[in-house]
Amino acid sequence: SPSADAGGGAAAVHPASHGTPVTDLRGATAPAPGGAVRPYTVTARRASVALTSGTTVDAWTFDGTLPGPPLTAVQGDLVQVTLRNEDIDDGVTIHWHGYDVACGEDGAPGTTQDVVRAGEEFGYSFRADQAGTFWYHTHQVSHVGVRRGLFGTLVVTQRDAEPEDVDLVLPVHTYDGVLAIGDDDGVLAPDAVAGASVRLRLLNTDSEPHRFGLAGTAFRLAAVDGRDVNEPGEVSERALRLPAGGRYDLTFTMPDGPVALTVDGEVRLRLRDGDTPETGGWPELDPLHYGAPAAVPFTLDTDYDRHFTLVLDRGVAMVDGRPAFAQTVNGRGHPSIPEQVVAEGDLVRFSVVNRSLETHPWHLHGHGVLVLARDGRAATGSPLWVDTFDVRPGEVWDVAFEADNPGVWMNHCHNLPHAEQGMMLRLRYD
Ligand code: C2O
Ligand code: CU
Repeated sequence: SPSADAGGGAAAVHPASHGTPVTDLRGATAPAPGGAVRPYTVTARRASVALTSGTTVDAWTFDGTLPGPPLTAVQGDLVQVTLRNEDIDDGVTIHWHGYDVACGEDGAPGTTQDVVRAGEEFGYSFRADQAGTFWYHTHQVSHVGVRRGLFGTLVVTQRDAEPEDVDLVLPVHTYDGVLAIGDDDGVLAPDAVAGASVRLRLLNTDSEPHRFGLAGTAFRLAAVDGRDVNEPGEVSERALRLPAGGRYDLTFTMPDGPVALTVDGEVRLRLRDGDTPETGGWPELDPLHYGAPAAVPFTLDTDYDRHFTLVLDRGVAMVDGRPAFAQTVNGRGHPSIPEQVVAEGDLVRFSVVNRSLETHPWHLHGHGVLVLARDGRAATGSPLWVDTFDVRPGEVWDVAFEADNPGVWMNHCHNLPHAEQGMMLRLRYD
């Protein structure tokens, strides 16, 4: 039977425990020199929100809006967020997706904190060390809470970066079957003049991938999951497939003609009006083979301290001592999947093998991972650091990271109903 340890006995495993959450590994309490304190209060509450399409959504919100309030910081700032739960009966937390916060700030209920019940509050604190495009969302019954609106964006800019003339944060989300982009669900038209520098921050907050096209201009894929691409080359007429949970930053200079962004083949944003080409048949840009190589801390040839293999499938499995239909990892469903155990300083490789007929967007908390290879073929482009990667049916992905953030971390499929159906385990530091 498949084992969580494909590395010849180096990795210890023991059953998942359901003990007291790790609450002592807390984040910074002061900004870096020159940084500021960014205090936010975010209130989780039910609200009826009208989308511009005319649909009214009975939503679970942060601060009554869809998405929740946009959180911003400059690199080095201290972000302090007080989360209040007004009336979400299922409880709420905030997980900082892709942000490598200290474990006690990670927002995994029952693992890094107790769930915040209606009438309660919880304070998060972390230093904004990573610049880029991120998001936050509840991690309590997240397959329901995120879908209903408990999420928002987190954008951290570099301290002395020249800002783009147009910088749009565009979370894509499906509310009650209506696809919305940004804080609107119509076609926006910010007035971008020719020659303006533009950055589009695309975020996929749904549980399925979305396919984007940018018509009317050449562009660069400047960042993936909040991490800059090394020497991103200019491309045009290429589709971008964004995994659930993932982010792409696109940059370009506004041309004279019309520019439109399509999502799943439909125009969702225009930067200038006019007819643009159909984006439907464009080939996909593959981030594994895009940008220029640069030095990386490890490769396929590195001697890893741990090597885990996660075989993804679905079927009847033993879950909590009885057989149940589940989304499985190595033949078991959460909470019966053995934990991955690592020691601080370990170089860790994990291989994700998809034996099912569905795509699984894999997401490890607390660590960016470097993509080494897909289907045994080494990545050839810019070092590709991600927090979420789409493992399509039949694919095998090899990724690696250094165990440099102690604690207990969720490692799961970001198709959130799949996670709920068992495709979730924990990575624990010894
Ligand atoms: Cu964005 Cu555990 O998730
Ligand atoms: Cu999945």
